[in-house]
Amino acid sequence: MVVVQTPAFAADQATGLYYEKRAGEYDEWYTSKGLFAARDRLGWDSEVAQVVELVANLPPVRTLDVACGTGFLTQHLRGYVVGLDQSPAMVTIAQSRLPTGLAVVGDALHLLVADSAFDRVFTGHFYGHLPPKDREAFMSEARRVASELVVVDSACRPGVDSEQWQERVLNDGSRHKVFKRYFTADQLAAEVEGETLFDGDWFVAAKVQFLVD
Ligand SMILES: C[S@@+](CC[C@H](N)C(=O)[O-])C[C@H]1O[C@@H](n2cnc3c(N)ncnc32)[C@H](O)[C@@H]1O
Repeated sequence: MVVVQTPAFAADQATGLYYEKRAGEYDEWYTSKGLFAARDRLGWDSEVAQVVELVANLPPVRTLDVACGTGFLTQHLRGYVVGLDQSPAMVTIAQSRLPTGLAVVGDALHLLVADSAFDRVFTGHFYGHLPPKDREAFMSEARRVASELVVVDSACRPGVDSEQWQERVLNDGSRHKVFKRYFTADQLAAEVEGETLFDGDWFVAAKVQFLVD
């Protein structure tokens, strides 16, 4: 019997525990260390560097990085920067990388932030994990607190299902299930009703300028 698991992420308790546990080793995904060292990822390091450059070249405005994780990308944002994540362990690492910024624990789908408090919402590898209802909630919150949204996510690759529940293994051997989607640059830009910022083999990025009502 095939069990179809309903997409879940931002409000899923098991997913929350997984990221809390993964925080200390999360950057190994970016830096090809630990379990990621054995993966065949042609061009990965150079694309990570390009994404870092893209982030560093964004104009310096008031930015809220939603689901900032360890702050691997957040630390390259210029201007007034606040990182937000639901995992306390992630936030501790992110704060250590933001000497002039702030990292806080919070829920991406219910931002405890005043309307228009920021110029930009930035989010990396979060949007693509969200099921439809949570995507709507996230987009609505982004539009409420900022006039611009920048989304960095994972590129669609040959032979990889564009939507899947993945089994993730941590360094201690524990196994976890995570819902994830992959995009072409055009798909991501169309879905968020924005324009393409980056179109790589591993990463895609889009920017949305919200219209004022
Ligand atoms: C794949 S990581 C992305 C981290 C980082 N933005 C990056 O680009 O590497 C997903 C992050 O989403 C966070 N997260 C999951 N649900 C959340 C929620 N409801 N509110 C805030 N953060 C959440 C997790 O704790 C985790 O740090």
